[in-house]
Amino acid sequence: MPPTSRQVVLATRPSGMVDEETTRLETVPQPEPGPGEALVRVQYLSIDPTIRTWMDDAPGYLPPIEIDAVVRSGGIGEVVASNSDSYAVGDTVFGMLGWQEHAVVDEGGNTAQVIPDGVPPTEALSVFGVTGMTAYFGLLDVGRLQPGDTVVVSGAAGATGSVVGQVARIKGAGRVVGIAGGPEKCAWLIDELGFDGAIDYKNDDLGARLRELCGDGIDLYFDNVGGEILDTCLAQLAMRARVVCCGAISAYNARGEAHGLTNYFSLITKRARMEGFLILDYLDRFPEAQMEMFGWVADGQVRHAEHVVEGLENAPDALNLLFTGGNTGKVVVALGS
Ligand SMILES: NC(=O)c1ccc[n+]([C@@H]2O[C@H](COP(=O)([O-])OP(=O)(O)OC[C@H]3O[C@@H](n4cnc5c(N)ncnc54)[C@H](OP(=O)(O)O)[C@@H]3O)[C@@H](O)[C@H]2O)c1
Repeated sequence: MPPTSRQVVLATRPSGMVDEETTRLETVPQPEPGPGEALVRVQYLSIDPTIRTWMDDAPGYLPPIEIDAVVRSGGIGEVVASNSDSYAVGDTVFGMLGWQEHAVVDEGGNTAQVIPDGVPPTEALSVFGVTGMTAYFGLLDVGRLQPGDTVVVSGAAGATGSVVGQVARIKGAGRVVGIAGGPEKCAWLIDELGFDGAIDYKNDDLGARLRELCGDGIDLYFDNVGGEILDTCLAQLAMRARVVCCGAISAYNARGEAHGLTNYFSLITKRARMEGFLILDYLDRFPEAQMEMFGWVADGQVRHAEHVVEGLENAPDALNLLFTGGNTGKVVVALGS
């Protein structure tokens, strides 16, 4: 009996949240690596909000996932067979491995990076991976954090937001305020991560609490959610504020019209700047940020959390956690293989 491999493919395009119709679990023959290729046994999947956007048939920074194709996703795995000089059997690698148990990587179109020994795979996907790097470059390069800044971050208890707040403290922010859903997440931000303040947007009056906590206005707003929260923050910018557009998770499942911004006029009156970015543009600068992040994690200045979901078949539910707020920190799926 030839070896087999399981994979999750996109069956239909979702309308709103992913449901049982959206994906299909299949068993297929295990792929064989050709010349210049390596076979990877996938161990962990990176569950990112952007996967939901790739499921739509809409223009984006990457093409939509095709119907019947394996769901696109970052992941970490072990090289188990290799015809490539770039990958040795036993290497742990990160790449766009997809929601599947085995993936083929090469030296061209679908490359993977070898993860240094000693870095736990879940941390390689979170604080040292895409979300940690997004926090670092979004805050420092796009947001141009200045000492003394009042920094506000939304999605603050998530993978990216939790690192944004901590790096802001390390780099000299005057005050760091997180926006998150629920009292437990807000307590975690203050008690465990050292935020100065936290606002529970599901239960508090966001505008009133921002006025309380950011008396002279927001110097740097790191936006992970878009929509009404972005609009409310725009109304409270300080002079020469910077608004970093990292993500708009409130819109990824939206059906119908997106929330329009009514307070963008304050960008003019406050001489403020609002700028989007994609972490893909910073890949060649990851090592400089990772060196700093290794130090901060080692000496306890940056804490991180991973929310591990077991089982490839549960990847669609894991994706939905990001939209219901069921996660604290980085969501990963462990394949247990
Ligand atoms: N620009 C880039 O290159 C780049 C790279 C990576 C990530 N991103 C973006 O960064 C953001 C965070 O990604 P992540 O991977 O770190 O995810 P995450 O923050 O770990 O998880 C998403 C969080 O968003 C919050 N959320 C969900 N729906 C919301 C809504 N309608 N209003 C307010 N908050 C909501 C939930 O927390 P609550 O319980 O607090 O609601 C949830 O835990 C996403 O927008 C993502 O697309 C951008």
